[in-house]
Amino acid sequence: MTFSQLYRKAKRDLEAAGVDDPQFDAMCLIDYLFGVDRADLSVMGDSIPDSDKENRFLRYVEKRASGFPLQYIIGTWSFMDIPLCIGEGVLIPRDDTEVVVRETLKRIEAVQNPRIIDLCSGSGTISIAVAKARPDAEIISLELSETAFVYLEKNIEFNGCGNIRAINGDLFKAFNDFDDHSFDAVISNPPYIKSDVIETLSSEVRHEPRLALDGGEDGMLFYNSIAENWLCKIKHGGVIGVEIDEDLTSEIITRFEKSSVKNIEVIKDIAGLNRAIMGTLP
Ligand SMILES: C[S@@+](CC[C@H](N)C(=O)[O-])C[C@H]1O[C@@H](n2cnc3c(N)ncnc32)[C@H](O)[C@@H]1O
Repeated sequence: MTFSQLYRKAKRDLEAAGVDDPQFDAMCLIDYLFGVDRADLSVMGDSIPDSDKENRFLRYVEKRASGFPLQYIIGTWSFMDIPLCIGEGVLIPRDDTEVVVRETLKRIEAVQNPRIIDLCSGSGTISIAVAKARPDAEIISLELSETAFVYLEKNIEFNGCGNIRAINGDLFKAFNDFDDHSFDAVISNPPYIKSDVIETLSSEVRHEPRLALDGGEDGMLFYNSIAENWLCKIKHGGVIGVEIDEDLTSEIITRFEKSSVKNIEVIKDIAGLNRAIMGTLP
């Protein structure tokens, strides 16, 4: 088949499989495997690719059509223009996470050399975005999964973030290792999906690690621990910023208020959904 025929076949197969944006995914796979982008395709559409690569391409299209995430096939994804290596075993970075990053950066603008901890760091999405925006900051990235931790370390190195220290540890225990009032900000995008909802998610999301999604029976497991064990690590006047699911808004606000968080604000994403809760410590 020619490049054009391969592209059209991929688009047709992905569309038939119910992939959201078959054109985009087909083009990404062509680009990934053959280094041929949309502009190249119009010039060399009639050329015939190497047959080994053609077979690999068709296998990837089949895999994608079965619900396997495009990002895991390609192995890299960008968040706030930052390239991140990702693969099975680590959460795919979401644009929504930009909300908690931007809001935290805004609130620590006036703090020099801020000390920040990112709980549940995954591939390093939040830590690396903050580290790049604030080279003067000292950032600690805490991640439990050994698989995700490998990606975290790789992404920190690849992006040249010498101001991040990655720790392979557990949010439910690691608070003992840090002094009270020692951080200017605690930031987190923790697992927050209710356990019994996970089986109802799309097959694509179910390819992502359960450890990255499961927020316990009521989705509050991690927020409760953050309130109980991590808020006391924040300096007076320091910032707490968490990504949320809209359904948990009032529970998280109530929990944070109980722990004396002040200036609580709910921030929406571009879809108009509540996406982050921000606050300060008295
Ligand atoms: C929703 S993902 C967020 C990843 C990343 N911050 C992002 O926004 O792309 C949650 C992360 O928490 C990690 N995690 C789960 N349980 C944890 C625990 N007890 N302690 C630390 N990290 C944990 C998961 O492995 C996963 O990487």
